[in-house]
Amino acid sequence: MNFYSALSNKISKKTAKIGIIGLGYVGLPLALQFAKKKFNVIGFDIDIYKLSLLKKDKSYIKHIPNSLIEKYKSRIKFERNFQKIILVDVIILCLPTPITSRFKPDLSYIKKTLENIKSYLSKGQIIILESSTYPGSTRDFISPYLKNFNIGKNFFLGYSPEREDPNNKKYSLETIPKICSGFTDNCLNITKNLYSKILKKVVTVSSLETAEFVKLYENIYRSVNIGLVNEMKMIANKLNLNIYEIIEAAKTKPFGFQAFYPGPGVGGHCIPVDPYYLSWIANKNNVKTNLIYHAGKINSDMPSWIIKETIRKRKINKVLIIGVAYKKDLDDTREAPSIEFIKILRKKKIRIDYHDPNVKYLKSRKLKKTYASKNLNSQMLKKYDCVIIITDHSKLDYELIKKNSRFIVDTRNVFSKKLSNVLKL
Ligand SMILES: NC(=O)c1ccc[n+]([C@@H]2O[C@H](COP(=O)([O-])OP(=O)(O)OC[C@H]3O[C@@H](n4cnc5c(N)ncnc54)[C@H](O)[C@@H]3O)[C@@H](O)[C@H]2O)c1
Repeated sequence: MNFYSALSNKISKKTAKIGIIGLGYVGLPLALQFAKKKFNVIGFDIDIYKLSLLKKDKSYIKHIPNSLIEKYKSRIKFERNFQKIILVDVIILCLPTPITSRFKPDLSYIKKTLENIKSYLSKGQIIILESSTYPGSTRDFISPYLKNFNIGKNFFLGYSPEREDPNNKKYSLETIPKICSGFTDNCLNITKNLYSKILKKVVTVSSLETAEFVKLYENIYRSVNIGLVNEMKMIANKLNLNIYEIIEAAKTKPFGFQAFYPGPGVGGHCIPVDPYYLSWIANKNNVKTNLIYHAGKINSDMPSWIIKETIRKRKINKVLIIGVAYKKDLDDTREAPSIEFIKILRKKKIRIDYHDPNVKYLKSRKLKKTYASKNLNSQMLKKYDCVIIITDHSKLDYELIKKNSRFIVDTRNVFSKKLSNVLKL
């Protein structure tokens, strides 16, 4: 039997059954996109709570509406039973790839999943990894689980990094070009054909390792440039210059400059994490990563610099943090700078509350305590001697904040005009 032609045909006819493992910020939108393009999908996760919501057509991700899950329900099944892997043709892994407490890549989620599914793999399937990881992971980590197969002939293996930008109104999964790679040419062709059925543009690269590197490079590019502009901000601050005016003017150069904006630090699953993945493999190969390290350090030091500058200007005892999600209009608090702010303020015995219209409760291993979002109103705002804007959600009432706060630290340039009660940091 020619397994390559069989799988290619199924993909062309959209009769290939898609299994997506890990239904988080990456996996759930991907499952919906395959369903939208008329593929049948089984979405796997170990999180019983998430599965129970999805089975009731409920989304747990703020920017994915329930209506979308309801719309495609006839084509997606949600499962915790990994035996059902035997039923699918395509297995896409959208699993977390965090760092350990010693800042090393943690591929344990991928390992655990492979252990769970290895007995249900069969000839003619493809596994594609989408998680961000260091160059060499797919080959060194996944292919050993496929030693009973002939990769490229009767089983296929690909890597295609996710470029999801949650809630980006301009670019969607369908319009963001997708990097594809394969263990062999057959693996690459199948990966490429599969994604070209659900999105507009596929870009192929010559190896799994190249594709893995591309993803890290993209995120490190952001980390380094954000680090650079945060350093520019600290210098401009000392010289009494407005960094935003400087960026706007620099941005008029039509070539060789891309504007990045300073902020309270970086958050989310990618930008604070991915530099460690590349540094780890670089160090293993005796390459020292100075620029990547220092950019990451500048970004992670932002909360402490902002608090130090605030305290230099004002005595504060009680702070209200506005916005704890790592990014505007999201509800995701993973690696959010707000957590570091709270930790530092707490150490200084400063009382803290927060308000975030998207995050009702703030839980983090690093805080060892759950905070609840306070309702925002004029009376309560007056109680705080400092309000720190960390996330500039669109639906916040900035007029109310401006009018009723005694002192505001604006880390996002929400108030573009100079105001007597606003310190931009
Ligand atoms: N979130 C983003 O915007 C984004 C963008 C690009 C790339 N990525 C990368 O994509 C990968 C996934 O990120 P995410 O944001 O979707 O993570 P996530 O934490 O939102 O989702 C991961 C899902 O995997 C599930 N899971 C964990 N272990 C499992 C197991 N053994 N079996 C089945 N399911 C399991 C979790 O319950 C969760 O639902 C990461 O490598 C991340 O770096 C994320």
